Amino acid sequence: MGAPRLAEATNDPHMNVMAPHQPSGTVDAVGSLAVTRLVLTDFRCYRQARVAVDGRAVVLTGPNGAGKTNMLEAISFLAPGRGLRRARLGEVDRREAPAMTGVPIAANPALATSPWAVAATVATPRGPVQIGTGREATASGGERRVVRIEGLPARSQTALAEHVNLVWLTPPMDRLFHEGSGARRRFLDRLVYGFDPEHAARVSAYDQAMRERGRLLREGGADQAWLAALEESMAQHGVAIVAARRDVAARLDESCAGGVAGFPRAMLAATGTVEDWLGEQPALAAEDMLRQRLAAGRRQDAESGGAIVGPHRSDFAVHHGGTGVAAAQCSTGEQKALLIAILLAHARLQAVLRGAAPIMLLDEVAAHLDGERRRALFAELAALGSQAWMTGTEEVLFEDLRGAAQFLRIADAVVSET
Ligand SMILES: Nc1ncnc2c1ncn2[C@@H]1O[C@H](COP(=O)(O)OP(=O)(O)O)[C@@H](O)[C@H]1O
Ligand SMILES: [Mg+2]
Repeated sequence: MGAPRLAEATNDPHMNVMAPHQPSGTVDAVGSLAVTRLVLTDFRCYRQARVAVDGRAVVLTGPNGAGKTNMLEAISFLAPGRGLRRARLGEVDRREAPAMTGVPIAANPALATSPWAVAATVATPRGPVQIGTGREATASGGERRVVRIEGLPARSQTALAEHVNLVWLTPPMDRLFHEGSGARRRFLDRLVYGFDPEHAARVSAYDQAMRERGRLLREGGADQAWLAALEESMAQHGVAIVAARRDVAARLDESCAGGVAGFPRAMLAATGTVEDWLGEQPALAAEDMLRQRLAAGRRQDAESGGAIVGPHRSDFAVHHGGTGVAAAQCSTGEQKALLIAILLAHARLQAVLRGAAPIMLLDEVAAHLDGERRRALFAELAALGSQAWMTGTEEVLFEDLRGAAQFLRIADAVVSET
């Protein structure tokens, strides 16, 4: 069963679970984490797609617009959050091809079919887990992402972090060091999920309390006790969030110092006001300070609509260890190499801590690496035993992976083996 197998043959999800398979030549001292079955329904360009693979790397090739990134996006919904495109839920619903309208299909809700869904079997060190997720309309006319784990509804999507650990690198992330700090915080937070699945729930609780406080302040005349309760929640969650980010940035920094052959050393730090407080005093004192600063900042926050201080203002600082230059000043290629080095260092730590390296979604990654770096990346992925999903327009970039990876070809949203 070395070859990948497409799964049209069976409709029974349980028939289709294949044991992760490690070909000779890869090191797999720890367990593995791998998507082994994936079913997409009305997901972007896919009406329905079924893929069954083993635990090895997967290479998806096909022309521009074939559906490669969409496939990775579907996998990214097996972790908490908005997926690798940060799409609104309704955007993901498949649009019928617009017959005559010149309107871009993804932007035209009138063309939407039915709510999207992704079902998957994920092999984990604790055994296979069945996961289902998708968009669901709510009674109030809104929408939400539903998650089922082993057939049972999960209380929230953050429960996914207990089972699935995944990270991604996509072409838009080439701008990560040039954009606002939000994208860098999200990048770091996703790495933190791997160390502490509760982090996702904390970030979402903090955001919710901050939004609620903002709304009360904007409306004016709010109940002081209610505001204080929200600020208490923000202080507790906020300091816990920052503590986790600081801890993970420090651990990753140390792991990066170990170096990955062929990649530059990345120097990392979580930075910000609350980070500074935590550098000098215990968490409880930092919580007090955050609570006080929020209470004192109400008037200002009522005008600005945000919050004067907190983890939503933090940043993730990355420097090139070889030159000491800030990542934003490095060349595009160097920035990419730094990001890959961080993900590989993270994966190495996760393999030790969680018993399996994260699933890695590497969109168009090979195109930007020279041959030597590409081989270094492939070698490291193989050594980690993690399942990497890699895309590219040209299969030739992945020739070195023949035998060690499964090759799938996508054309017009149809997946086939090569
Ligand atoms: N909601 C949608 N419904 C239908 N098609 C979509 C939707 N969103 C994006 N698409 C289309 O999916 C196609 C494949 O996109 P993508 O996966 O990004 O291609 P690539 O293989 O180049 O990575 C594109 O042509 C895009 O217009
Ligand atoms: Mg793409």
